[in-house]
Amino acid sequence: MQGKRILLGITGGIAAYKIAFLIRLLKKSGAEVKCIMTPASSDFISPLVVSTLSENPVGIEFWNKDDGTWNNHVDYGLWADIFVIAPLTANTLSKMASGSCDNLLLATYLSMKSNTVIAPAMDLDMYAHPTTARNLTQLESDGVEIIPAEDGQLASGLEGTGRMAEPETIFSKIEDYFESRKDPKIKGKKVVITAGPTYENIDPVRFIGNHSSGKMGFAIAEKFLADGAEVVLVAGPTKLNLEAPGLKLLRVRSAEEMLAAVQAEWESCDYGVFSAAVADYRPADVAEQKIKKSDEEMSIRLIKNPDILKWAGDNKKDQILVGFALETNDLELNAQKKLNKKNLNFIVMNTLMDPGAGFGHDTNKISILDDHNNFKSFEKKSKKEVAKDIIDYLKNYNS
Ligand code: CTP
Repeated sequence: MQGKRILLGITGGIAAYKIAFLIRLLKKSGAEVKCIMTPASSDFISPLVVSTLSENPVGIEFWNKDDGTWNNHVDYGLWADIFVIAPLTANTLSKMASGSCDNLLLATYLSMKSNTVIAPAMDLDMYAHPTTARNLTQLESDGVEIIPAEDGQLASGLEGTGRMAEPETIFSKIEDYFESRKDPKIKGKKVVITAGPTYENIDPVRFIGNHSSGKMGFAIAEKFLADGAEVVLVAGPTKLNLEAPGLKLLRVRSAEEMLAAVQAEWESCDYGVFSAAVADYRPADVAEQKIKKSDEEMSIRLIKNPDILKWAGDNKKDQILVGFALETNDLELNAQKKLNKKNLNFIVMNTLMDPGAGFGHDTNKISILDDHNNFKSFEKKSKKEVAKDIIDYLKNYNS
């Protein structure tokens, strides 16, 4: 569930206390969690517990009187990959079935771009009531997925069907939900990604490097992993870290080390996405001892580094190969030349001229040019969203 965005809706039933365990399970699996609570649910679980465990502020009212912020149901609807409402009371169920919209949770339900999953919880007679059955049928036909209530001891002391499914059951239903939606073009495929800068040593304490943070490459790796790919992430020196099942993180320093790591993985891979900012040149000689200052001027002779992307393009069989171009001028013309020269399937272009795009930023603004001469421009977005756009382009790309 690495990187999946789970929006949890909590309504006012006794089972709300169990949601703490569900949040823990989701967080442990690498998901991002945000929660919305109905006002009544805070009698059963404290918003402080929910926000602490989810590591995000909790949305209860539209208007947060403490810090003056507006909780936007539309933003929640756009953010989430899935909306899970657990526990779902008979009251909120009936409001959802009728389209009522008198709190933040209900407004968010109506604003959802992704699917909604519900785990109802109520006393056995309420659960068995024809009104409840009718409302559940209505939601099912509206496309909502239902995790049925379970049989057992109820808070009222009675025994019967009405208990909220256990957090472990809800968790595995969420896992199944994402599993069943994984694209076969990505699921189980092997991807080699390069990320970050390279450092080219001058002497034991100095190097030639650049400002690349590696954020774009790491975001691409995360998205591929979330979609079920096997990822080899070859990363130059960066502070970033990523741990996930299916990930092989190879840390390298120089272009030559990056090339060697790519060469070892290339033949067996399906896709290559090369986002690293590789130094084009390296010092011809690396001093064994720290260079002492002497004359007013000094020069370092540089020799060309291997072009890793070009090597992959020259040694391409059925792989789809994606390169990056960071340009300051003649963006499309230069990108077209790189696409051809390096035998790429498509190239992701960005320019340092766009504010908030490129090195170090959390956002990027890209356009894509492919080898069929298709060109697509995207809005400025977070690097995570850009990663999704790149992978969506790859899914729809036909060589
Ligand atoms: N690349 C690489 N190995 C290199 C240099 C670049 O793999 N030695 C890859 C980058 O990861 C990126 C693309 O090639 O995907 C960038 O192309 P490149 O021609 O190197 O761009 P610039 O370094 O900007 O080159 P130039 O200075 O010629 O514009």
